[in-house]
Amino acid sequence: MPADKATLLIPVDQLTPQEARAEHDALGAEITEHDRRYYEEDAPSVSDAEYDALRLRYEAIEARFPELKTPESLTQKVGSKVSEKFGKIRHRVPMLSLSNGFTDEEVEEFVERIRRFLNLGPETPLVFTADPKIDGLSLSLRYENGRLVSAATRGDGAEGEDVTANARTVDDIPHVLNGPNVPDVFEVRGEVYLSHADFTAINARQEAAGKPLFANPRNAAAGSLRQLDPAITASRPLCFFAYAWGEASAMPADTQYGMMECLRSFGFKVNPLTRRCESIADMLEHYRAIETDRANLGYDIDGVVYKVDSLSLQQRLGFVSRSPRWALAHKFPAQKAVTVLEDIEINVGRTGSLNPIARLKPVTVGGVVVSNATLHNEDYIKGIGGNGEKIRNGIDIRIGDTVVINRAGDVIPKVLDVVLEKRPADAKPYELPTTCPACGSHAVREVNPRTGKEDAVRRCTGGLICPAQARERLKHFVSRNAFDVEGMGEQRIDEFYEEGLIQRPQDIFTLQARNARSLKRLENREGWGQTSAKNLFDAIEARRSVALNRFIFALGIPHIGETSARLLARHFGTFEHLREVAKAAADPDSEAHAELTSIGGIGPVVAEAVVEFFKEGHNEEMLDALLAEVTIEPMEAPATANSPVAGKTVVFTGSLEQMTREEAKAMAERLGAKVAGSVSKKTDIVVAGPGAGSKLAKAAELGVQVMDEDGWFALVGRG
Ligand code: IVH
Repeated sequence: MPADKATLLIPVDQLTPQEARAEHDALGAEITEHDRRYYEEDAPSVSDAEYDALRLRYEAIEARFPELKTPESLTQKVGSKVSEKFGKIRHRVPMLSLSNGFTDEEVEEFVERIRRFLNLGPETPLVFTADPKIDGLSLSLRYENGRLVSAATRGDGAEGEDVTANARTVDDIPHVLNGPNVPDVFEVRGEVYLSHADFTAINARQEAAGKPLFANPRNAAAGSLRQLDPAITASRPLCFFAYAWGEASAMPADTQYGMMECLRSFGFKVNPLTRRCESIADMLEHYRAIETDRANLGYDIDGVVYKVDSLSLQQRLGFVSRSPRWALAHKFPAQKAVTVLEDIEINVGRTGSLNPIARLKPVTVGGVVVSNATLHNEDYIKGIGGNGEKIRNGIDIRIGDTVVINRAGDVIPKVLDVVLEKRPADAKPYELPTTCPACGSHAVREVNPRTGKEDAVRRCTGGLICPAQARERLKHFVSRNAFDVEGMGEQRIDEFYEEGLIQRPQDIFTLQARNARSLKRLENREGWGQTSAKNLFDAIEARRSVALNRFIFALGIPHIGETSARLLARHFGTFEHLREVAKAAADPDSEAHAELTSIGGIGPVVAEAVVEFFKEGHNEEMLDALLAEVTIEPMEAPATANSPVAGKTVVFTGSLEQMTREEAKAMAERLGAKVAGSVSKKTDIVVAGPGAGSKLAKAAELGVQVMDEDGWFALVGRG
């Protein structure tokens, strides 16, 4: 509830006691709601700067009218959102995620994929470890000469928050490591969590003190670790299990299991349910045993993590995108609940997709209150699956239906099924609108020219005139993995868009100059002030230079995710080069088209989307305007910076004996090289195994450097 506009504009020292009380109440309610969203939903609805402005005003009013400082006042309560920021810590080795699987078949595929990648026959032993996947928050602890020097949250995987002082208060986190073989530099990673018993006790204390309750142990653990006052963290009995490591000056063991034993001997808690498994059957058996034991563990877990035991095989397997190829999180089945579908709303996405969202009667699933769920698309609502087959026996979903929903970990809840017996007599089949709810343009299902099939997604044809698409594009543009503009949350974009302040990406960078000339300055608005306006402008200024991969990703070209953006950035090196080739590639017979479609990892759909994007005049205009405001820096690539093959083009030919073709390609790419399928003037290295034929001859003709597999390993090392 925002405070009354007129009141807010009155300087605190001119408020009457009545006005002060009214505004204090209103601000208190608003701050409490923000705290609730932050703590219970982990989904803040305002920026830190806005929140701080509200609190400052609240405190200023109290300072002038001390009678408002009752025990109920928010200033008398601890545990609100921290107002000052934690420092940042850059992870020297990124903190990655895990690929997920839900079924036994997915576990089998995972193991088979690894065998194929490493070219291991079915008889060759392949050992895994299996341990519970803890539902907490990950933490990286850095030890130098055996002493804890810093602790950082995962953050975006590249950079986390400095929570060292708080981590020191956790009993399970040793300040000094034991034993003779502790590496000089050693980063230990693991999960901070709360036991069920401690979670219940904390919530009881919160309730007694009239403070907001935490929705589940993970949120409570996160809220406790991210306290500005370490004394509060110390009063919450956080626990820690170690299960991985980051930078290490030496490795005290050569297997995952051995590392777990070392971690235990150094003084960490390692999950007692960690096992070595020698077959898929062993893995699945241990999974079931943990699943059976789940309710008695006393803390939340959401699956079992399998990891290849041999560290040298882990090294060879490497990563795909942001997850290791050598690990899999085998998740427990999604938890289900039954509730009523109260309404279906349409959300228009960045690319114009009409996304049906189920508005549900709120229901608790696995400790979290769910009130929205996805309905995927029109066919899904009608009971038709991806290949035209029936799902739910062809039963459609109607407003008013009692529905079964599920929620698995961090996945968006889904409407799964309908309880037909409870369908109201007057429930009507749902028709997705054929016009865009945001701009009124036709919304159509395109037919894919290649397959002749109708697209499952209905899209608004409004393009640039559609405000919903424009807003979603802006939200994507400023999002964390794109331009990452702090303080530009979704609500702020909606608000600025609505008022015409920011409608195109380039407008973000001219905002400050326009504001200086404006009659309606940001700093004079309700809820704003000099500080919050300055914070926003500073955050924008800080993003005037941006890495090439982020820039490409930010453009929101359909089908271009972070990975494709990186591949394009790596291949082209500069934005001008990408733009030039993409424009020339509009001619399908051009060399540019051949170049674009032969980039490893870029398929025809992505290539086509790139060509289409650069064909559009309005995109060209936007790019020119944007490039006048921002500077594009080279791609972010710390890991490969000192690799001897970074930026080189490599061709593998003949039969490789020490690695599979897939492994060779992944290894070269990990080291920053490009892998090509044929030899040309642009090739730097040809790695030839026995039986190499015409490619070897071509390399000799062009004077390209040729080496065998041993030569390759001598150049790049074994890992
Ligand atoms: S191994 C490269 N083992 O789950 C990452 N992770 O969803 C190696 N997690 O980011 C991590 N329990 O924070 C591993 N027993 C466990 C885990 C675990 C929880 C977390 C971890 C990871 C996230 C991915």
